Amino acid sequence: MKIGIITRNENGWCSTQLREAMKKRNIKPVCFSFPQLVARIKYKPEVSVREVNILHDLKALIMRPIGRGSLEEIIFRMDVLHRLKRFGMTIINPPIAIERSVDKYHALCLLEESGLPVPRTAVTEDQDEALKCFRELGGDVVIKPVFGSRGIGSTRVSDPEIATRIFRALSFYHTVSYLQEFVQHGFSDIRAFVIGDHVAAAMQRIAETWKTNVSLGAKPVSTKLNEELENLAVKAAKIIGCKVAGVDILESPKGPLIVELNSQPGWRGLQSVTKTNIADEIVKFTLSELKT
Ligand SMILES: Nc1ncnc2c1ncn2[C@@H]1O[C@H](COP(=O)(O)OP(=O)(O)O)[C@@H](O)[C@H]1O
Ligand SMILES: [Mg+2]
Repeated sequence: MKIGIITRNENGWCSTQLREAMKKRNIKPVCFSFPQLVARIKYKPEVSVREVNILHDLKALIMRPIGRGSLEEIIFRMDVLHRLKRFGMTIINPPIAIERSVDKYHALCLLEESGLPVPRTAVTEDQDEALKCFRELGGDVVIKPVFGSRGIGSTRVSDPEIATRIFRALSFYHTVSYLQEFVQHGFSDIRAFVIGDHVAAAMQRIAETWKTNVSLGAKPVSTKLNEELENLAVKAAKIIGCKVAGVDILESPKGPLIVELNSQPGWRGLQSVTKTNIADEIVKFTLSELKT
């Protein structure tokens, strides 16, 4: 059996883990990146990479980060995934879940609409409105890129003058301002790694500053979540449609708040503090999803 891994770097740590987990189960991993794909209409194969007919030769696809690209490239990549899905391909995560979660505004809306706890957040294209929202949110906010990850580009702002300058610059470059009330979390948060309908592993991320991304130096510490947090993470993944998800939860004085849900999470930091073989769990879950 062959399973595809869509990755920008097949020798990257997570992709290597996935390849090894597959080989242990006698599955042949086929790694490729989006720019290598050819899509066809009205003649076959519908989607191929090198000599591989994706629909015919691969049983499933596992997605690593979709990567950067122009709007056209990203839309094309998503279109291809949707087409493969319509033809019955098992894709972890499904394209709809990727679309929902990479867009922080869209994801947070869906979580809020389902009654899950999320921080107060405002989004606008207008610099003057952004400044009003800055005040509405208490004058201490985190400004984030709507499509960001790894904490890159997020800024905590509590000075109205700096806020004004930032909103002006964002608006000038046609960037949407995404502002969130600053949540007092004591420099740590929870990352729950959901696979299927359970939390496969979780960690507390302990930082020296307010950003707790492991990629920015936060220390992962193994933790067992209580039932409330486990249910929260699993429910969040389900609402977004993710089969595999990295759910970021801040523990505020008023209770847990979900700040984001990653549909293509890495797990190198988490793997260093858990006995669960995460890549193996992902592969095992993918096999359980195959249509027989
Ligand atoms: N509203 C907030 N208040 C306090 N800290 C935050 C807030 N939002 C995010 N953070 C911190 O910044 C980190 C990155 O934010 P997040 O929304 O997860 O975006 P990403 O990881 O995609 O860059 C979080 O893990 C958390 O430590
Ligand atoms: Mg995050």
